[in-house]
Amino acid sequence: MTSKEIRKSFINFFEQKNHKFVASAPVAPLDDATLLFTNAGMNQFKTIFLGIEERDYKRAANTQKCIRVSGKHNDLEEVGKDTYHHTFFEMLGNWSFGDYYKKEAIEWAWELLTGVWKLPKDKLYATVFRDDDEAEQLWKKVTDINPDHVLRYDEKDNFWEMGEVGPCGPCSEIHIDLGADACDKQHEKNHRCEVNGGCARYIELWNLVFIQFNRENDGSLTDLPKKHVDTGMGFERVVAVLQGVPSNYDTDIFTPIIQKIAELTGKDYQKDQNGMAHRVIADHVRALTFAIGDGALPSNEGRGYVLRRILRRAARFARTLDQHDPMIYKLVPTIVDIMGDAFPEIKEKHQYISMVIKSEEESFGLTLDRGIELFEKMVTEYQKKKTTKISGEDAFRLYDTYGFPVDLTQLMAEEKGMAVDEAGFNEEMEKQRERARKAGKWDYGIEVNWEEWEKISDGADSEFIGYDSIESNAEIRLLKNEKEKVYLVLDKTPFYAESGGQVGDVGEIEGDGFLLSVADTIKQGDKIIHVAEGNLPSPIKSSKVKVRVKQDKRMSTARNHTATHLAHAALRKVLGDHVHQSGSLVTPFRLRFDLTHFERITENQIQEIEKIVNQKILENNSVSFIETSYDEAKEMGAIALFGEKYGDQVRAIKIIDFSMELCGGTHVNSTGQIGLFRIVSESSVAAGIRRIEAVTGEEAISLVNQEREIIRSLSLSLNTPGNELSSKALSLIEENKKLEKELGKVRMKSSSQNVDDWIKDAKQLDGFKLVVAEVNPNSVDELKNIGDVLREKLHSGIGVLGAKFGDKINFLCVITDDVIKNKNINAGDIVKQVAAIAGGSGGGRPHMALAGAKDLDKFDLALGEVEQIVKNQINL
Ligand code: ALA
Repeated sequence: MTSKEIRKSFINFFEQKNHKFVASAPVAPLDDATLLFTNAGMNQFKTIFLGIEERDYKRAANTQKCIRVSGKHNDLEEVGKDTYHHTFFEMLGNWSFGDYYKKEAIEWAWELLTGVWKLPKDKLYATVFRDDDEAEQLWKKVTDINPDHVLRYDEKDNFWEMGEVGPCGPCSEIHIDLGADACDKQHEKNHRCEVNGGCARYIELWNLVFIQFNRENDGSLTDLPKKHVDTGMGFERVVAVLQGVPSNYDTDIFTPIIQKIAELTGKDYQKDQNGMAHRVIADHVRALTFAIGDGALPSNEGRGYVLRRILRRAARFARTLDQHDPMIYKLVPTIVDIMGDAFPEIKEKHQYISMVIKSEEESFGLTLDRGIELFEKMVTEYQKKKTTKISGEDAFRLYDTYGFPVDLTQLMAEEKGMAVDEAGFNEEMEKQRERARKAGKWDYGIEVNWEEWEKISDGADSEFIGYDSIESNAEIRLLKNEKEKVYLVLDKTPFYAESGGQVGDVGEIEGDGFLLSVADTIKQGDKIIHVAEGNLPSPIKSSKVKVRVKQDKRMSTARNHTATHLAHAALRKVLGDHVHQSGSLVTPFRLRFDLTHFERITENQIQEIEKIVNQKILENNSVSFIETSYDEAKEMGAIALFGEKYGDQVRAIKIIDFSMELCGGTHVNSTGQIGLFRIVSESSVAAGIRRIEAVTGEEAISLVNQEREIIRSLSLSLNTPGNELSSKALSLIEENKKLEKELGKVRMKSSSQNVDDWIKDAKQLDGFKLVVAEVNPNSVDELKNIGDVLREKLHSGIGVLGAKFGDKINFLCVITDDVIKNKNINAGDIVKQVAAIAGGSGGGRPHMALAGAKDLDKFDLALGEVEQIVKNQINL
């Protein structure tokens, strides 16, 4: 079976058992910064497990894009050394949300592995949690596994947790014995091949987790409202087993990438330790492709920092294959060939992904050399001190500033007969992780613990009715009165809660004896929270309220939101299909749109984009929405956004055949309501990301009015009609230039006059004339011109001129050729000494030299010293 067939057969198997296929969530979840990367299939179902959210299906199956690079679930430095660790991998999984439990999970796993995929039963082992009698009994009852192959382990192996906090529970793993030859630890003393023994002979294929607890912040376990099943099977591993190859890198998921690396570098792949570079690059480029495809970017913090480490580690391994120019990005098309069908997002964005990787490779190319330089310096220092251990801090500095993975530093240290203080390095690393973790923490504004909320009435809550209305009667369900704020959850509400870049609605909530002003609306799971200000009687007399969204704000926001969609489509038309939204903010006042693009957007392009959008506004096209399944919407050509998590049923906003985007926001009914669209700025946000800001409606009109005011006042002061202002400005500039020139000539004339006078009064020194004078030119160029005239007229002599320009001084020295020759003297030496007196310096050629200085008080003194300086110079 090919890997594609295996993926399909897993999904089909569970679809036949009434599971719903759910698309993979983004691997870089942009809306959940508590998680650096999606690290398990269950991440997107976390809120269902916690009882915060419900879906209309109780069974699901999928293949999830995962990255595990640090912390609980992996170590980047291990990848490439062996045949089965990865940064990026796919996790096949099936889920039950309060539906079936241990029995079916075990039964079906066995059926798929041994019945459909025909894995040898006698090679399979099942592990269960220490005290999970039920699971052990089930394995023996509902499957025909060898009863001796059911083993018990403790927390370390058989209690699965998502992270420090979150859903968790006992688990049952299925392992396979690949035979004695598969062991990669034979050389290790005391090694025994066994389940959970850490070698490549017994490997875990599938983990069945029986989710029943939540790990709280304080470390305690609380029971979840329902019991769930969460399973995860390493796709790459199972493909290796089913394809009968000894390494994941020998499966058809990896071989085309490895072949391409061999082709690009001219170095064949070797399956032993010598093939590490190929494996590292092949693994890492997958992680980069998928993470960047989902909107993450290499940077200095949070997940961007992790990506940067991955890319740099790959790039340094590329160096070991003698690659000094970027090459990793050239592998992206190969990955798209292998996986683009299952994950169309990488097909759509392949150009952009390649560009990001390439530019990051280029910049690391420079750092790598600088890092090596620093390393050499460090080594010299250590050798002086006769120390052979590179401190953790230094290793970390190389790692952090120059992106040197510690194994690279180690390798280089070994070559010098030195070592790295690993413990010290890890300590620094830990500090760094802490920083990354903090950067990833998301502030919800309020701590949402529903148990602390006051329950006002019973029943379903948070039905959103705001697409059709902005006013309604409602009933308070939950309430929290805190500090100066009141938080309310209603049965139904027209208030749009902040999401998808659109800010939350503002408005009023009126009840019996109170009027609250809603300052913001936010979402927590399925609940819509109204953040309000005002006084509430305690207890309240009635749960019944009237709610009103502020209409003008809602309308202005809608204008900006629909305009964002139009702009997105126009940007793609003008700049190309590599343009994707990487962020957006829609407020009542303006819209901000971040897009993937590598260059400045030119003025002409801006105008073109504006023109297209305004054309659509003039056409007054209707804005319609379609509610359908995610797959169908994608098929219809709807654009889904980077890193956005979509439910099963989606809402697509369609503006005739011009734009179609998945979006839950509020929009105008027809484009004419936008009125006018104006881009007000274009800037850079990060490498590969540009930002435009624009206004619509009233804000656009007020912008036009401001501009009109500027034109009007210019017209008045220039006494020119508006449409002739620019030619008037040009002619004024021309005229000004001409006048400057004229003025220069007049000044020159009067300076020449002066020059004649200076020469007349010049000092005679040893057969030549010395002129020292202060002048008032308009520019340094003019000073030089005067110098030229002086030199010309002197015939034989030296001239030193001083000029003040505001708070700066310039000195100029000119010498005629005969004096240069006869007295062996040069203008640079003289001007330097003169300027030094006034705290300056300068130089030039023997016949003319210029110097600058700052000390205005010493100006006269400096000129007064000229004679002595010249005399010293010619030994008079
Ligand atoms: N969530 C479980 C795991 O990641 C299935 O292993």
